[in-house]
Amino acid sequence: MQQTLPPGIEKVLISADEIAAANARMAAAIARDYAGASLVLVGVLKGAVFVTADLARALSEIADGPSDVQLDFIAVSSYGNAHRSSGEVRLIQDTTHAIEGRHVVVVEDIIDNGHTLHYLRAMLGNRSPASLRAAVLLDKPYHRAVDVTVDYVGLTCPDEFVVGYGLDYQERYRTLPYLAKLRPEVLPA
Ligand code: PRP
Repeated sequence: MQQTLPPGIEKVLISADEIAAANARMAAAIARDYAGASLVLVGVLKGAVFVTADLARALSEIADGPSDVQLDFIAVSSYGNAHRSSGEVRLIQDTTHAIEGRHVVVVEDIIDNGHTLHYLRAMLGNRSPASLRAAVLLDKPYHRAVDVTVDYVGLTCPDEFVVGYGLDYQERYRTLPYLAKLRPEVLPA
């Protein structure tokens, strides 16, 4: 059936079903690695709000996974233009609970140049967690500026400006249930 797309959206790149399947795969891998352990998922606002929620719920449906899953959030911002961040990352809002001694998985919607996750791994790693890993729904490997480990990857992102499922353009389109390509005329030249 033909889907009616909002103005500014050219086409759906990754459907809601494909996103759900990727989250289920990541949840299965995380559940295996943290079976019986108490785990903290740290979602990176705002983009990772949906993947963090969906990953947490997928984890809770796996019987032999972590003994419990707690949620926390952190907010960072990176300076840059519409297409690309500059690499300068700033902490906007910290986690509400200390992560010392905890098993932590940082949850991101996307890794692009890698500066944001690099910053977060360094900052959170300095706080003596029991373990620290990263789960990223979308790996966009084409413009990586820093080498950073991603332990769980959902999908490879096409080399397009992608919005939806948490990803925005000027704060719009985040709430779309799928990942989509913007019409080129929406973006600055
Ligand atoms: C996006 C995304 C990641 C980061 C990845 O956040 O949510 O945190 O960019 O990009 P990088 O690998 O090039 O550093 P953004 O700064 O757009 O903020 P938002 O999550 O509030 O939209």
